[in-house]
Amino acid sequence: MQENVEKAPILKARAEEPGTNIGRCRVIELQPNDYASAIYNLHQDDNNRLNPDGTGWIVRSFFNLSDDKDSVLILREDRFDPTTEVRIPLPAGSQLIVDTQRFWHAVWHVGPEPRYCLITSYTSGPELDAYIEKYHGKPQDANPPLPQQVIDDAQTSMQRRLAERAATLASQGKRAAGAVAFDDDSESDSDD
Ligand SMILES: [Fe+2]
Repeated sequence: MQENVEKAPILKARAEEPGTNIGRCRVIELQPNDYASAIYNLHQDDNNRLNPDGTGWIVRSFFNLSDDKDSVLILREDRFDPTTEVRIPLPAGSQLIVDTQRFWHAVWHVGPEPRYCLITSYTSGPELDAYIEKYHGKPQDANPPLPQQVIDDAQTSMQRRLAERAATLASQGKRAAGAVAFDDDSESDSDD
């Protein structure tokens, strides 16, 4: 929107820096939460359903605008398997590019202040590869430590809350929608 561009020319410039095609771009505010809530909110984005065949896969960037060094973006290959989890810290200036349709993801934001992040959808391809290379992007696979008991408790809480939600939906004659239960508009609660 032109109105937003006029208010935030630097954010616009940052979003355009990779020089590849941009989908949605927005700044999100995330209030503090806890690990168990983040695990419950793990979701996959629906980025590519409307893309024409033969065009680049859509991925998302997360440019952290606040300094949240104790908070993490949680990624899981398998929603229910914590051994597939990667936790990426979010200090000031973090720039992450993630295939959010492939990875289950949510942010655990410790707080106490709200977190702000510029989220932009990009088309994958040579331009984005060059941008990642320019800033020495590398895979993230070293997790900050987290006690096993915290992980186990969050798994139990997640299963309980999902069962409760399914029961509520069933009582209303609806079916739990799984991955699409958290659509794009609700993800400001958890995301990213
Ligand atoms: Fe998301």
